[in-house]
Amino acid sequence: MIALRAVNHGNWIKCIELEVTGEQRRFVNPNLFSLAEAYVHSDANRSEAEAYYRCIPFAVYCGDEIVGFAMITYEKDCDFDHRPAYEIYRLMIDKNHQGKGYGREAVMLLLDYIRTFPYGRAENVYAAWHPENEISGKTFLGCGFMAAGTDEDGAVVARCRLNG
Ligand SMILES: CC(C)(COP(=O)(O)OP(=O)(O)OC[C@H]1O[C@@H](n2cnc3c(N)ncnc32)[C@H](O)[C@@H]1OP(=O)(O)O)[C@@H](O)C(=O)NCCC(=O)NCCS
Repeated sequence: MIALRAVNHGNWIKCIELEVTGEQRRFVNPNLFSLAEAYVHSDANRSEAEAYYRCIPFAVYCGDEIVGFAMITYEKDCDFDHRPAYEIYRLMIDKNHQGKGYGREAVMLLLDYIRTFPYGRAENVYAAWHPENEISGKTFLGCGFMAAGTDEDGAVVARCRLNG
């Protein structure tokens, strides 16, 4: 049973220690990088963060074990549609726990959380992935996302509507 919990004093080092496979490293930034990004766009940097966007990181648990890491963003002027929008910005499941359905479950839980509109209302949630990242594509498209185009880096961009 998967659960999303805050990244905190007790688990942040474990989050940093999670790893994807060597081949997958080109698809996702290290969790250390993501946590630095989350700090820069957090309440600790409130005025600056508000001008850009907010990052909300999560540890993905299976029971008491951390099996992955995720981060969502809320952006007032989203790059994809120039309206307020959420994005599932980072998602990784540790290489020892992939292929067990955890990634898909984590996305469904992230969508449940986003539908509480924790940072403000929005019509859409986005996700983007490298065109060769087939597993990521299967994960998001299997959770209600629909391909919507590509971004300037050639990543596949997909959208999931939030208001039904
Ligand atoms: C993408 C990722 C989060 C998916 O998590 P996961 O727990 O391994 O995936 P799940 O077990 O929930 O499976 C999700 C889908 O991928 C498919 N899948 C999982 N592993 C697969 C594999 N090795 N080969 C082919 N398909 C695979 C599953 O069958 C499922 O598709 P389905 O619902 O159509 O059957 C994980 O592979 C990962 O961390 N990858 C590296 C980091 C990354 O690429 N992150 C995304 C950046 S956008």
